[in-house]
Amino acid sequence: MKIEKIGVIGAGVMGAGIAQAFATSGYRVLLRDISQGALDRGLATIGTSLSRLVAKEKMTQVDADAAAGRITATLTLEDFHDRDLIVEAVVEKFEVKKAIIGDLDRICPARTIFASNTSSLSLTRIAAASNHPGRVIGMHFFNPVAMMQLVEVIRAIQTTDAVNAAVVATVAKLGKEAKVARDSYGFVVNRVLIPMINEAINCVYENVATPEDVDAMMKLGAAHPMGPLALGDLIGLDIVLDVMEVLHAGFADPKYRPSPLLKQMCDAGYLGRKTGRGFFSY
Ligand code: NAI
Repeated sequence: MKIEKIGVIGAGVMGAGIAQAFATSGYRVLLRDISQGALDRGLATIGTSLSRLVAKEKMTQVDADAAAGRITATLTLEDFHDRDLIVEAVVEKFEVKKAIIGDLDRICPARTIFASNTSSLSLTRIAAASNHPGRVIGMHFFNPVAMMQLVEVIRAIQTTDAVNAAVVATVAKLGKEAKVARDSYGFVVNRVLIPMINEAINCVYENVATPEDVDAMMKLGAAHPMGPLALGDLIGLDIVLDVMEVLHAGFADPKYRPSPLLKQMCDAGYLGRKTGRGFFSY
């Protein structure tokens, strides 16, 4: 399967990062969002990120300019008719992703691969929204995309071997590491990471230790570069709660019960860095 022309739908935090990763690796990228303002913000984010890489001498100015030049912004989904691989990174709402897949089915030939960057929705359910479900797969990038090495490749039960192999090979061309997981709630990284953060929150809830000490213990005793509560604040406690609810509802296993304190923090609007206050102040 030839993968040369890339489409990225959604120019937010992840879509901008994904478009940049492909463009930096030499791919031509078409980037789409629903408003010119969102596209402009996405392109500005990419410009800032490339400038930072140049300042850190991880990239030359010439290469950064060439990468930026490979990205074309559009508001028109029909422009995606000639794409080989389309990655969607729109809002985490099944109905929105389903509508996009339906539109792409109409616009694109059957060979086009549709990848979703969803962090919690069932890939099998997303694939079922396509007339050609075998072409649908998950490409779960991590934030910030320019820095993070992993792409979790998620196989829906419908995904074909050829599509899986083509996506794994493409990830390698991005200079990133692909690891394949079968479609399952939270995939692997979030299923392991988020319950650990939830358990750290339970330690605070049950007065086992202070937030400062829980984080210090995990840094000093488990060699984690960042404590779990500081990490929860960075990710956003609302996102941590969303993932716990997906795991809890999906597996119907009480071990994934969201911490009552996590719910209270979200109810209070103490969501972490983005609101200036979570387990720590910013
Ligand atoms: P975001 O809110 O920053 O960006 C979403 C973008 O999608 C917005 O610019 C919005 O205007 C656009 N959009 C909405 N509907 C659209 C449509 N019909 N067509 C085109 N564009 C549309 O969200 P973010 O954080 O980039 O997340 C996007 C996806 O990536 C979600 O599925 C999320 O679960 C996933 N994800 C997020 C991570 C993160 O750390 N933020 C990490 C890994 C995955």
